[in-house]
Amino acid sequence: GKSGYDHFMLKEIHEQPRSLRQCLQGRVDELAGQVTLEELPSLSPTRVHLVAAGTSYHAALYGAHLLQERGIPAQPFYAHEYASFTPPGDDALVVGVSQSGETADTLAAMREAHRRGADTLAVTNTVGSTLARESDHVLYIRSGPEIGVAATKTFASQLTALNLLTLSIAAGREARDVIASLRDLPGDVQAVLDDSKAEQVASAFADSDSYFFIGRGLHFPVALEGALKLKEISYEHAEGFAAGELKHGPLALVTENTPVFALVTGDGEAARKTIGNVKEVEARGAPVVAITDGLSDVGRYADYVLPIPESHPRVAPILANVQLQLVAYHVANQLGRPIDKPRNLAKSVTVE
Ligand code: M6R
Repeated sequence: GKSGYDHFMLKEIHEQPRSLRQCLQGRVDELAGQVTLEELPSLSPTRVHLVAAGTSYHAALYGAHLLQERGIPAQPFYAHEYASFTPPGDDALVVGVSQSGETADTLAAMREAHRRGADTLAVTNTVGSTLARESDHVLYIRSGPEIGVAATKTFASQLTALNLLTLSIAAGREARDVIASLRDLPGDVQAVLDDSKAEQVASAFADSDSYFFIGRGLHFPVALEGALKLKEISYEHAEGFAAGELKHGPLALVTENTPVFALVTGDGEAARKTIGNVKEVEARGAPVVAITDGLSDVGRYADYVLPIPESHPRVAPILANVQLQLVAYHVANQLGRPIDKPRNLAKSVTVE
């Protein structure tokens, strides 16, 4: 059942501290600064292709970025594209990211990879799924069943599992810091859940023309995910942009009736640049909602702040995403949408 929540989506958002704990359980050694993924052999790929669809594609985008940061050539692909235009590279490790493990597009991409002799790895929630059975290796995200059509807790666990995978392939000097933030992640997510003003923000903006989400680097996939979540359950128009792309076109859409959700953490170069983008939209009259750890002064330019705890830059996007999940949920709820079963959508898309 829904354990007292109005919708499975809200229940699953609130389950994240537990599902993240399960994902991390027994896999991180804080003292040694090491990750052990028992189900995997030691992998040292010369390059990685990540294939996925929808929310899982956003996780793939994030995973590719993590691996690239560690110097491993990695590329994300939409599964349906990869199935028909597979780039050369039999030496690639092909990672299929899929909650259900039954998405036809992803299975087709992985079968094509397999046919070309590539080593394949499934990152999935579903034990015994077709993807798990057909792949050479499997990394389970251990979220437990997700009923809501909108992926929530499984996205958080995909990002977490891709962090673990990256650390197991190429640890690097910062491994200890990442692991410390991963250890704190379940508690930090709980803190966001306990004290979110997302419902208030949702009521302030529930009759907007359009909703925009901006982020750079590892926050870009979360900007895309925030927009996807909002559009699929609220039926409102929403778009996610790489913050630096705004001025190359999307800025034309910005008005006083298009709230802009800006993901800004840390106080480095990326934060400074995104704050520049925030000022650009503010100058066009757009209301700004900053999702931030408070380390920069983005709050000064925002109409609302949705705070998140300080965390490692690789982990902060997972926390920021929780605020966006809640915004999407509350906008849809205020509009009276059938949140767990949005029109035209299925939990698992088993046709190409
Ligand atoms: O089961 P999968 O992760 O392969 O599903 C892929 C997409 O269909 C899925 O992520 C979809 O975009 C979500 N339900 C959106 O919330």
